[in-house]
Amino acid sequence: KTIERLGELRGRRVLVRSDLNVPLDGSTITDDNRVRASVTTIKELAEAGARVVVTAHLGRPKGTPEPKYSLAPVAERLSELLGADVAFATDTVGESAQKTVAGLGDGGVAVLENVRFDPRETSKDDAERGAMADELAALGDYFVSDGFGVVHRKQASVYDVAQRLPRAAGRLVEAEVEAFRKVLVSPERPYVVVLGGSKVSDKLGVIDNLIGKVDRLLIGGGMAFTFLAARGYGVGGSLLEADQVDTVRKYLEQAAQRGVEIVLPVDVVVAADIAADAETSVVSASAIPDDQKGLDIGPASIELFSGKLADAKTVVWNGPMGVFELAPFAAGTAQVGRAVSEIDGTSVVGGGDSAAAVHKLGLDASAFTHISTGGGASLELLEGKTLPGLAVLED
Ligand code: 3PG
Repeated sequence: KTIERLGELRGRRVLVRSDLNVPLDGSTITDDNRVRASVTTIKELAEAGARVVVTAHLGRPKGTPEPKYSLAPVAERLSELLGADVAFATDTVGESAQKTVAGLGDGGVAVLENVRFDPRETSKDDAERGAMADELAALGDYFVSDGFGVVHRKQASVYDVAQRLPRAAGRLVEAEVEAFRKVLVSPERPYVVVLGGSKVSDKLGVIDNLIGKVDRLLIGGGMAFTFLAARGYGVGGSLLEADQVDTVRKYLEQAAQRGVEIVLPVDVVVAADIAADAETSVVSASAIPDDQKGLDIGPASIELFSGKLADAKTVVWNGPMGVFELAPFAAGTAQVGRAVSEIDGTSVVGGGDSAAAVHKLGLDASAFTHISTGGGASLELLEGKTLPGLAVLED
């Protein structure tokens, strides 16, 4: 249900829920990819003559205005990227918002202050969220849902407002849904999923949903140590979720029965501490010393993983291979990421840490088929869940 279904847009007020939740250092945006990804829809609507009212959240304020979570710097960045003025309302649904929206001309764009400054946005109470959604809906004639990163949230500006106005998915939500549909519904084979990140408990839902669908599962990052422990190895001082070892062992058995290959690191970069100037060495995955932590996959694992990716026609990558934020532990993520980008097929990168790694490590973002802007949202799609912010867009 895309923008076309709304019909004539000139002079119409279109309330757009974007995901402008970007990392800030003071008032400086340190990664503006979500703002960039939001521009396509906003620009298209403005060029069609709509009066565009952007609503979004930043961080997790406790339902009350907090200057450090103001969207003002983000509105400024949006204005630079659009090459046009962007009006800013200093509240979300109050007097400033109403005046700002009333002052918009055709093709004008406004950003409303952080929706989470109002406690009703995230309330568990349907009536409270509904009251906020009524006030938001009064600011638009149409609703366009374009904040893919929040479609897993049943919140007033995502879910409830969509029930109150003629609605459509924006271009970003459309592109994200299409990319995930392709890998979840009709993946070309070989189908390889690369999982990483620190905690295996965060990825159990994904493993559960995908284990029957994929040909190979490559496991790196901190979560790999729980897999290594399940295979009977000692992991030294590495991250280990001892309470998940039995569950992981069951997945290993299931995979073996179904003919799914689970590929674990064969060597590991270790150090005594997580530090940018740490003294590192490479050891076998079966011989991690007690006083050392595994902080990245080693060179033999990089080669192994790259080989397992080489003939893939579909790859989903979610989670870094090591502590990529620190140079001594970045090679695994950088090189496996590059191997994912180089496949001759469809490569989809989950949002959150893996997307951040692509940008931070200078990988060629355009070489991937799709890099998601949603962390939790992309994870929930991969878990096979129904996302409220998407379900509500269906008729
Ligand atoms: C994200 O950063 O994943 C989205 O913006 C959602 O934010 P939230 O987890 O605070 O709801």
